Amino acid sequence: MSVKNAMTADFLRSAYGGESMAHMRYLIWADVAEKEKMPNIARLFRAIAYAELAHADNHFRALKDQVGDFSVTAGAVFGSGKTVENLQGAIDGELHEIEQMYPVYLETARLQKEKAAERAFHYALEAEKIHAELFKEAQAAAKQGKDLEIGPIYVCPVCGHTVKENLPEACPVCGVKKEKYKHFTA
Ligand SMILES: [Fe+2]
Ligand SMILES: [Fe+2]
Repeated sequence: MSVKNAMTADFLRSAYGGESMAHMRYLIWADVAEKEKMPNIARLFRAIAYAELAHADNHFRALKDQVGDFSVTAGAVFGSGKTVENLQGAIDGELHEIEQMYPVYLETARLQKEKAAERAFHYALEAEKIHAELFKEAQAAAKQGKDLEIGPIYVCPVCGHTVKENLPEACPVCGVKKEKYKHFTA
């Protein structure tokens, strides 16, 4: 299935750019958290970085027939400070995706009957809602100078669904079996 419409293709490229940068930014911020002796927050950043990789991968695959060299405009949070500030950047970035970016991209894909893009945007939107909440929990701990108390974190490699402690039998978003989830354990 190839993308037919220019606007959906633009949005896929932009989303690919945004997710790629989020992936990298969270790995950078994971190292900062590690240095600040917050290994669980570092682990959360790495788990969510993996989910953003899954999103970038979905957007990239949806564009598989759109071969070419493009300049891409993509929103991204820049800067690296203390972990508590980095978590605010992470929350802001996720909320932008949840409230602005993905709802618009998703509606456009639906309107243009772009099934692959619609699925990719839907998967990302659902995961980002969870990411925002997990980052808020992490920031509440970091504000008190503490690490996040969290057990294993599991990430669906297909849609980026992210869940702590209790692994579901199948992914509630894309249906993949629990054996496929990637584990991020202490
Ligand atoms: Fe996210
Ligand atoms: Fe999934």
